[in-house]
Amino acid sequence: MKVLVIGGGGREHALCWKIRQSRIVEELFCSPGNAGISEIADCPPLASSDPQAVAEFVARQGIDLTVVGPELPLSQGLADRIVERGKSVFGPTSGAARLETSKVFAKEFMTRHNIPSATYEVFDSPDPALSYVERKGLPLVIKADGLAAGKGVMIAQTIDEARDAIQRTMVHRVFGAAGRRIVIEECLRGREASFFAITDGQRVIPLVTCQDYKRVDDADQGPNTGGMGSFSPAMHLDREATAFALERIVGPTIKGIAKEGHPYRGVLYVGLMLTDDGPKVLEYNCRFGDPETQVILPRLASDLVPLLGAAARGDLSSVRVEWRREAAVCVVMASQGYPGSYQKGKKITGLENFAGRSDILVFHAGTRTGPGGEIRTAGGRVLGVTAFGMNLAEARQAAYEAAKQIGFAGVHYRNDIAADAIECQRTKKTEHVGP
Ligand code: AMP
Ligand code: GLY
Repeated sequence: MKVLVIGGGGREHALCWKIRQSRIVEELFCSPGNAGISEIADCPPLASSDPQAVAEFVARQGIDLTVVGPELPLSQGLADRIVERGKSVFGPTSGAARLETSKVFAKEFMTRHNIPSATYEVFDSPDPALSYVERKGLPLVIKADGLAAGKGVMIAQTIDEARDAIQRTMVHRVFGAAGRRIVIEECLRGREASFFAITDGQRVIPLVTCQDYKRVDDADQGPNTGGMGSFSPAMHLDREATAFALERIVGPTIKGIAKEGHPYRGVLYVGLMLTDDGPKVLEYNCRFGDPETQVILPRLASDLVPLLGAAARGDLSSVRVEWRREAAVCVVMASQGYPGSYQKGKKITGLENFAGRSDILVFHAGTRTGPGGEIRTAGGRVLGVTAFGMNLAEARQAAYEAAKQIGFAGVHYRNDIAADAIECQRTKKTEHVGP
């Protein structure tokens, strides 16, 4: 089999690492890839912003399965173009991907299908939006409709903050056309949880639980990032909440989107708030999370390729999935200044300590190979160091011990990944191992 992965971050390195282990894969391509990915896959420089060009490559090379990492190519119709050529793609069509690419669509969809979420209103001009805020009272959550690289959600505690968010989004257009419309919704309270499931458009296979850390600094301080670390399992999504999420949220979402003419084949992420009234949807993503994938896939014991291939073909009925019982923790090593501006080109040392190791996995994100074969930084998030353990505490310790052996000028990472979860388990005395 020939497989193509689209993307070049830590998530795609984890995907390529797992796909490479499959006995049914003969050739693996990844575009654009990064320095780590290029050690295990061919990295052709495809214009990923041009779905037609990628689809042509797929047809020309006879690629059997294309796996799309990021949301942008999905929003641009990459899956549609590949399906048109009769090829398999893991990732939804642009119509189904609207669950992520338009917050207005997602909210109206949840209303149509009776899926629990925050109450909301949609606005296409600033004055009525502001009057609504004044009438409703604070706090409220203001969301740009379109893709905004994870920055389009603002929680307003005061009228001034709400006015500022509305102005920046709708008048100054800091998120471009994504801010033409906004959703203003009720601010939910509770603990957040992530839920990932693979679907063929009908059947659903839930993945192991996990959690990521969005803020750049310890104790959830500083600006939001793509994600500074992750761990799995995340025990706070208990059996009852998982059953509720499957029956009342994921099931109706998959059925609903198919009924509307857009069967969903790929991985669906649901961001949940566990409120006193039960779990409610904060958002959908139409792809694997980054860095959640860097703890989920290492825990997958069975072959990933039959699972992705069956979802892409629309028949998950005969696929069996097995998980490792160990816990996994991923610590993201980032460039100084990220998520703001940062320098690139710093030499990375210590990677050789982990070559060929199966207990510590160093996934590359923003890296490139320098002229002398050395690995240099080339992005904000540079590496994700994943370690296993019999429990989260052991996995966490191993991940930090590994991170200490890797260096580059200005390296920054959080020191508290998984610490709160370990503390929570300790005080509740619910030490748990397993998926
Ligand atoms: P999103 O980009 O939609 O995932 O939102 C980013 C973050 O904003 C979420 O992870 C939550 O922490 C927060 N958030 C989004 N919607 C709400 C809401 N209705 N109430 C409270 N927090 C929210
Ligand atoms: N880690 C969050 C995301 O992938 O969007």
